[in-house]
Amino acid sequence: MPDLAYLNGDIMPIEKATVPIEDRGYQFGDGVYEYIASYAGRLFMLGAHLDRLERSMGGLDFPPIPRPGIKTAIVDLFERAGYDRAGIYIQITRGVAPRNHAFDPTLSPQVVMTIREINALPENLHRDGITAITVRDIRWGRCDIKTIQLLANSLAKQKALSEGHSDAIFISDQDVVREGTSSNLFIIKGGQLITHPLTPNILPGITRMAIIDICRETGLKIDESFFTTDALYHADEVFLTGTVTEVLPVTQIDGRCIGDGNVGPLTRKLYDGLRQKALAGA
Ligand code: PDD
Repeated sequence: MPDLAYLNGDIMPIEKATVPIEDRGYQFGDGVYEYIASYAGRLFMLGAHLDRLERSMGGLDFPPIPRPGIKTAIVDLFERAGYDRAGIYIQITRGVAPRNHAFDPTLSPQVVMTIREINALPENLHRDGITAITVRDIRWGRCDIKTIQLLANSLAKQKALSEGHSDAIFISDQDVVREGTSSNLFIIKGGQLITHPLTPNILPGITRMAIIDICRETGLKIDESFFTTDALYHADEVFLTGTVTEVLPVTQIDGRCIGDGNVGPLTRKLYDGLRQKALAGA
């Protein structure tokens, strides 16, 4: 099955899809994106991803694109590729124009998508957990908008890998624990989950939302509030959540063991719960 691209209405093999060099996404990072996964041939939480895409576009004053058109395009691409476990990347940039910091509000947004079989994390990482480092959060002040400007995320991830770890966790100048480089973060202390509240400093993750739903359905206590690195280091369990990450246990941070250094029971339970929800097509 070939990996496919969608380019402003046309579907083609990925290697055939090209964009103009004056696309504002290329020159200014002036674009937004989504990444959606499927499980067993069904797209997981498509509606929530479309809600966030519209919110991101609104946050950058893009003209709205009617939802039925974009939804049909995603579903068509998904059906054409025919993967059970697909990862669909959707990128919308403001448009193509001669380079100028100011923009013409009537530009036509450019819609690009790719579909590949998802590059899921190896199962042993879910079973055994990962190690991570903390890094200073040098990102801009609107991390709630899913823009394609991911350089700080990319550099932080690379730093973690080059030091022999799997990921990095962003910490604010005031020592507030934010999120991972492509994931949200939860800690568990005394049976209660805590995660950063929805503010402009983190992405409102769809998996984060699914985990909060599972907590409410199963009676687990969840608190959306700020916490510091001290609480992170002294948590019983820590895990990351994301479309690719799913629920990923973190067993060591900055060289310190989290809890007893093993994957904890609630993290396992939430991973199983998320998998069940995804396979049920919720
Ligand atoms: N990233 N926080 C950040 C900074 C992210 O980039 C992501 C996802 C998340 C988790 O969001 P969700 O649960 O909706 O996937 C949190 C995607 C997967 C990416 O960059 O490809």
